[in-house]
Amino acid sequence: MAIFTVFLALSCLFSGWPDVSAQGTDRVTIEKLRENLQSAIELEWATIPPYLNAALSIKEGTNKPVNGILWSILGNEMDHMALAANMLNAIKGKPVLNAAKAPRYPGPLPAGCLPDLNVTLEKMTRAHTERVFMGIETPECEDSVTKFHDHLSKAASPDLQASNKMSEKVEDAFPGLLAKCDEEGYSPDTIGAIYIHKILCPMYKLEIQAQGSPEGTIFTGDPGRQVSIPFKVSNLTTAIRAIAFIISQGEGGDACNPYVDDQFAENNKKNVPSHYFKFAEIVHGKAVEYGGKPCRARDPWCHDYFSPCDGKNCENDITFNGPQVPFDENDVWPIISNPSTDLYPPGSEARKLSDDFNKVYVDVMQCLHDALNGHPEKLKPDCADDKMVDLKKKGIQLVQTPIYPGGPNASPTYEFDYKEKGQQQQQQQRIEL
Ligand SMILES: *[C@@H]1O[C@H](CO)[C@@H](O)[C@H](O)[C@H]1NC(C)=O
Ligand SMILES: *[C@@H]1O[C@H](CO)[C@@H](O)[C@H](O)[C@H]1NC(C)=O
Repeated sequence: MAIFTVFLALSCLFSGWPDVSAQGTDRVTIEKLRENLQSAIELEWATIPPYLNAALSIKEGTNKPVNGILWSILGNEMDHMALAANMLNAIKGKPVLNAAKAPRYPGPLPAGCLPDLNVTLEKMTRAHTERVFMGIETPECEDSVTKFHDHLSKAASPDLQASNKMSEKVEDAFPGLLAKCDEEGYSPDTIGAIYIHKILCPMYKLEIQAQGSPEGTIFTGDPGRQVSIPFKVSNLTTAIRAIAFIISQGEGGDACNPYVDDQFAENNKKNVPSHYFKFAEIVHGKAVEYGGKPCRARDPWCHDYFSPCDGKNCENDITFNGPQVPFDENDVWPIISNPSTDLYPPGSEARKLSDDFNKVYVDVMQCLHDALNGHPEKLKPDCADDKMVDLKKKGIQLVQTPIYPGGPNASPTYEFDYKEKGQQQQQQQRIEL
């Protein structure tokens, strides 16, 4: 469960997504909705190697608070990937996790998300956390989005979920949400907004249309394909809960509230920061505090007034004056940035360990693909425990291994095509000789 316990990304322009404007959701087909859910899976996947790399670079037994934050976020990201796949399976889609869909680095996130953010693979540093990790998780600052989250949070609450009877008309179930979907001038900007406007709203409308059809619902997928971690998706109600869960843990819904909605916090904890704010705590070196007396820039105690939104002041003050979140950059292995198999000399220890790592990485992803395509029983312990623990072990060995004597250490490359790359390099060397 350690690895499978922990994400969500935030401020994204999904210009590459099939265009579905808020007002145009009536035109969305079930095929487009399936494509959008596949894109969501790829996006969640793309966040994992950068976070994993940073976690692996921390020397074992050191920097414990920061290490803990990184692994908990990794677990969330795995959960979010599983939920996106459950939603896709619930509407009779087929998740794909193969070489063609694998994220590549350095470069932007997939699906046109945050095109200006160059996601790099690097060791853990505060600068990297601020630029790349807070960049990925930047919250949406648009007020209309914040209001949507209020409705979403209520719709996801266990009380409302329980009171929704099968017999109720779909359009009566979550009236606040549906009205929001129809609001004009709402343009998706963050990953959370994308989940609402490219997934939730079209899903809702397609479900209403399906009421008149022979099947009566779009949720006709085989329930046997659902993975139970974190929970199964079988109807619109559970899909809404899945989307609220993903958004709340990642960007947190309201940019001026640093905490995850209580109903989605791990182990029923209170005041768990969203991913964006967990990363901000690392950058500031102190835990976030929220909702004290209003903070004005001239108050002497208010030296660390913080807003995630340019030009927007948050009504409840956010300060980083809590307990220390120490991070010592000396207790991090000196791994190279943006690695590639080509950079590791053939026959070297670094190359051997890198190939071993990639073999297990491909194996983990194949295992997850199988688990999400009709073999949910493989998820645990096979994929999420056995294979991922092996991946972590291989990664820990790799980051301790210099590429050449006196050189920087190697770093996982997360390549499916590492064998082909290695061959090209050997051929090239022969030509040079
Ligand atoms: C992304 O970063 C890498 C490594 O620093 C660099 O080589 C590449 O040119 C950058 N890409 C863009 C689009 O800025
Ligand atoms: C949706 O599925 C959940 C879990 O299977 C179930 O408890 C709930 O009653 C269902 N809700 C509706 C409206 O069908």
